[in-house]
Amino acid sequence: MHADHTTRRGEVTIRDLSKSFALNGQPLPVLRNLQLKIASGESLAIVGPSGCGKTTLLRILAGLEQPDAGQVLIDCLPMRGMGAERAIIFQEPRLLPWLTVLGNVAFGLDVQGTPPAEAKARARHYIRLVGLADFETAFPRQLSGGMAQRVGIARALTVQPEILLLDEPLGALDAMTKLIMQEELSRIWREEQVTMVLVTHDLEEAIYLADRVLVLPKEKGAVARLIEVNLPRPRERSDNDFVAMRRRLMAEFGLSRPVMGSNVGL
Ligand SMILES: Nc1ncnc2c1ncn2[C@@H]1O[C@H](COP(=O)(O)OP(=O)(O)O)[C@@H](O)[C@H]1O
Ligand SMILES: [Mg+2]
Repeated sequence: MHADHTTRRGEVTIRDLSKSFALNGQPLPVLRNLQLKIASGESLAIVGPSGCGKTTLLRILAGLEQPDAGQVLIDCLPMRGMGAERAIIFQEPRLLPWLTVLGNVAFGLDVQGTPPAEAKARARHYIRLVGLADFETAFPRQLSGGMAQRVGIARALTVQPEILLLDEPLGALDAMTKLIMQEELSRIWREEQVTMVLVTHDLEEAIYLADRVLVLPKEKGAVARLIEVNLPRPRERSDNDFVAMRRRLMAEFGLSRPVMGSNVGL
């Protein structure tokens, strides 16, 4: 963690947050009285069964969705709508097909009115950071899935957010690319000292990247749980402590024995 207690940049406080949707005229409670403080520079993973509200929570944090009750504070101030201190990364990077990698990454700055030369210089810095320096002039259709997602990450970082919100950002990538990207995300998080909130259905990814894991329940009346990941970094997936942590997290889902394959049906 990179806690900076003097300025608390990127600290998130979630107070009594509740959200329901309507399903066939009936209220469908999704988040119930959620309480959580995410420290400045912390890496928090959110896991839970499909439909438990992970995306809803992230969208509320992004300002794309309104809660029914409760409050989100960013650095002790009530959050209002979307803001430049937060950037969100989705599973699909949604690049603009008519712009090059450089154009896509600089786009957010161009929109903000940053002078073009400065926008380009900053975009180049983050393109280098995600390892795509040789692909500045490539168009999205010329990129692999992993490369496209790197562009998405560079684009989010270019506006220098305090808080990076990621919704299953590696979910569409093949297994090998995913492992490489997890290492990249870990490095980028460390270098940028950004607060990271990562939704994932991959328990190993959560343990690899997070300081704490928030487990959202699906059943009515069940409460969210928080699990600390007290493992030194860089983390090694085959370490005994890592494996033990994985077993513990799986037990949270009633999976006491390892199941066949990596997809545990979440
Ligand atoms: N805009 C919406 N209108 C109605 N129901 C929604 C809406 N968004 C999400 N839901 C419902 O809320 C629940 C949680 O959805 P979501 O946050 O996407 O779950 P997760 O990301 O954990 O899979 C689901 O049952 C989903 O159908
Ligand atoms: Mg989701």
